Amino acid sequence: MRFSITVLPGDGVGPEVVEEAVKVMGAVGVRFAHRFDLAYGRIGGEAIDAFGVPLPEATAAMCQDTDAILYGAVGGPKWDLFDARVRPEDGILAVRKNLDLFANIRPVKEYPALANSSPVKPHLLKGVDMIVLRELTGGLYFSRPKRRWQTSRGRRGVDTLRYTEKEIERILRVGFKMARERRKRLTSADKFNVLESSRLWREIAVELSAEYPDVELEHMLADNLSMQLIRDPAHFDVVVADNTFGDILSEVASVLSGSLGLLPSASLAGLPTTSGRGRRPVGLYEPIHGSAPDIAGQGIVNPIGAILSVAMLLRYSLGLHDEAKAVERSVESVLARGYRTLDIAADGGKEVKTAEMGDLIAASINTCG
Ligand code: IPM
Ligand code: MG
Repeated sequence: MRFSITVLPGDGVGPEVVEEAVKVMGAVGVRFAHRFDLAYGRIGGEAIDAFGVPLPEATAAMCQDTDAILYGAVGGPKWDLFDARVRPEDGILAVRKNLDLFANIRPVKEYPALANSSPVKPHLLKGVDMIVLRELTGGLYFSRPKRRWQTSRGRRGVDTLRYTEKEIERILRVGFKMARERRKRLTSADKFNVLESSRLWREIAVELSAEYPDVELEHMLADNLSMQLIRDPAHFDVVVADNTFGDILSEVASVLSGSLGLLPSASLAGLPTTSGRGRRPVGLYEPIHGSAPDIAGQGIVNPIGAILSVAMLLRYSLGLHDEAKAVERSVESVLARGYRTLDIAADGGKEVKTAEMGDLIAASINTCG
């Protein structure tokens, strides 16, 4: 089959990891006889430098008219000014909002071969396999008012935490449906003890749970949950949270797998409804690690998060399940053979640079799956 993919490398290590992800996608195309037509767009700091805006119109249009978006990262110290009129991050936030990508899926699992790279004790990591599901288009990130101003008694700043019933219901439904296909436990994060929006969130969760009697719904205060994720990570199956808590909790959970550099994510406008092969609603796929300006340009970043994001892209946006599995198995096989980028080198093995890791995974697409 033939697909069009919009590729947005962005800033920092974004271009380096996206290059390896594209390499692996190419290998999938050859092995399974698909054609991926790639269109590259600018976003973030590099777009500010070139056009003065973090999401040029051309890039926004390319995101509308495509089967899926593969994205790297944005941001860096160069653009981190307190009084900046435009920020690189506004580019990715606008893509999420424009395409209504409200469901952010961040899977976290243990890689037994990398147990020593995780700061958490290996025995606690056994059986860790969870999804942090983050609401991505509402809450503190987007609600208005959102501004800073000067008063006679000093400076003020405000952000607004507002959620509608519809926004809460649709993300919780994705959570219930994902849990139903997995170990049937949905843990909902909130600050019910403090926040009104959290009380609404919990109320709706309880109401919806009547429709999903096979799923065990559990509520946890977000602060406690951040601790339980480290204390007893194997307990969790699907964790659902609002935009801010989900941002933080997914990053806490990421240390479990050994390195932030390993983790992929998908941002969708809903779960694909049809099964089997074929096209789906557009989704955006990105490693969760960000632009890591401190290590950019050195060829040492781990491309696995971006490569596993390709697996998610194949599965969720293109409906190519065997192809997605082939990518995941290739990653596992290369790790099992002892190849390591710097971030996961604590376990020993053969240390390789970014491009070599990409080459190895692309080469094993032909033999895995
Ligand atoms: C993430 C990042 C972004 C966020 C930033 C880059 C805007 O931290 O995707 O988790 O806060 O959503
Ligand atoms: Mg984050």
